[in-house]
Amino acid sequence: MDADTKKRLAAESALEYVETGSVVGVGTGSTTNHFIDALARIRHRLDGTVASSEATAARLRERGLRVADLNAVDGVSVYVDGADECTRHRQLVKGAGGALTREKIIAAAAERFVCIVDDSKLVDVLGTAAPVPVEVIPMARGYAARQLVSLGGNPFWREGVVTDNGNLILDVHGLDLVDPGEVEDTLDRITGTVANGLFARRRADVVLIGGDTGVRTLP
Ligand code: 5RP
Repeated sequence: MDADTKKRLAAESALEYVETGSVVGVGTGSTTNHFIDALARIRHRLDGTVASSEATAARLRERGLRVADLNAVDGVSVYVDGADECTRHRQLVKGAGGALTREKIIAAAAERFVCIVDDSKLVDVLGTAAPVPVEVIPMARGYAARQLVSLGGNPFWREGVVTDNGNLILDVHGLDLVDPGEVEDTLDRITGTVANGLFARRRADVVLIGGDTGVRTLP
């Protein structure tokens, strides 16, 4: 089975977590795009959605789903999004799509965070294959990069990319992520950073993993 089919299976199984009459948070990326397509089939049952990126908002609207500002809704019952890496403890690296800050905000606001991945995203230790993206205010790029180097990281500026918030992304390789919650807090304390792609403190509540034999659930 190819990776895209596995992503679609995981995405479609997330519909089970969508409550009638609720507001659904929607992430960003190719796995989430499958979820949007599935969500469109039950759009009449939803109160609305909130989107983690302009790209996701556009795709939701194209499929007839109502997109609300997070400030205009009372709450988000479930947030569904993909990940670049995932451990069996449901801790994640996210942000290859550059939407990490809005993703983190909606994940924080949601009662439940359902992560949808294909089985290639599972790792024993975060940082095995994916760098940790850090969103920085443009004027802080050089300063933040030097701080990241002093922490043992190897930051690369994702040149040409400007986030939906008007900021820049540094992709950080080589961090020791044995304690990802501690690193998440440390990166958050670098002045001029907006957010980082470690989802260790607010981890997923449920992970749906698409594989050759179907979808399995963590925990
Ligand atoms: C975007 C993300 C995505 O969820 C992550 O990059 C996974 O993407 P895909 O579903 O395309 O594999 O964090 O910022």
